[in-house]
Amino acid sequence: MSEDRPLNHDEMLAVLDWYRAAGVDIAVGEEPVDRFAQRAPARAAPPAAPVPADPERPAAAPPMLGGDPSEARSLAGSAQTLDELQAILGLYDGCGLKHRATQLVFADGNPEAKIMLIGEAPGAEEDRQGKPFVGKSGQLLDRMLAAIGLDRTKVYIANTVPWRPPGNRTPTPEEMALCLPFLHRQVELVAPRIVMTLGGPAMQTVFSTTSGIIKMRGKWSEVSIGQHQANAMPTLHPAYLLRNPAAKQQAWMDMLSLKLKMLELGI
Ligand code: URA
Repeated sequence: MSEDRPLNHDEMLAVLDWYRAAGVDIAVGEEPVDRFAQRAPARAAPPAAPVPADPERPAAAPPMLGGDPSEARSLAGSAQTLDELQAILGLYDGCGLKHRATQLVFADGNPEAKIMLIGEAPGAEEDRQGKPFVGKSGQLLDRMLAAIGLDRTKVYIANTVPWRPPGNRTPTPEEMALCLPFLHRQVELVAPRIVMTLGGPAMQTVFSTTSGIIKMRGKWSEVSIGQHQANAMPTLHPAYLLRNPAAKQQAWMDMLSLKLKMLELGI
């Protein structure tokens, strides 16, 4: 028996609760919307005339900083230290991911390290603690590093985007493009001799490629990341290894290859 009437307020809230309990925590329309394209004309418009304060309404949101990659580039380029870069990112409002995340997940490890690891994006635990790779895949990453004598005092760890995407989805190309200048600056300021990317999206971002991780993993090349040149190799993401334990054999080969590269470079 079905009633053909609109839902009332309480019923709508009950439906939303039901969705949330089922893990649906983001609303997506039927048609894709290119918010990147939408943002440009809005930003070019002249500033609106001031509106008299209305005590019944909440204060307007603060003005947006950033929002297009060239602005992100100039903000990122103005950072002279990692602390400055972190502070600038903390203020940057151009990437929508920030508004759904609990906090900025900037980096972990040693900023003087010669080895930098770049993952995809923070997950739920990273979002809670404000540090990359502290959940289950981070624990596996720590074991992989320990197997070749490394730990977080000897590596520096960051992600392609520093905010958790809702529901742990892969960051969109627009989100990655907005965050890329900050990652480039982070790499320039750390200046590692070796960069290892974790998983397909991080590899595609850092190596500017559309190739798949299975084909590319374990291969070394010299890459320019921002203005910095480093020896770089993609490997499999620890979260993938947790889901596909048989692939740990390949990851182990990559870790041995990393150890050899360290010996070759005298690190
Ligand atoms: N996966 C990532 O790619 N990065 C993190 O920080 C955690 C999980």
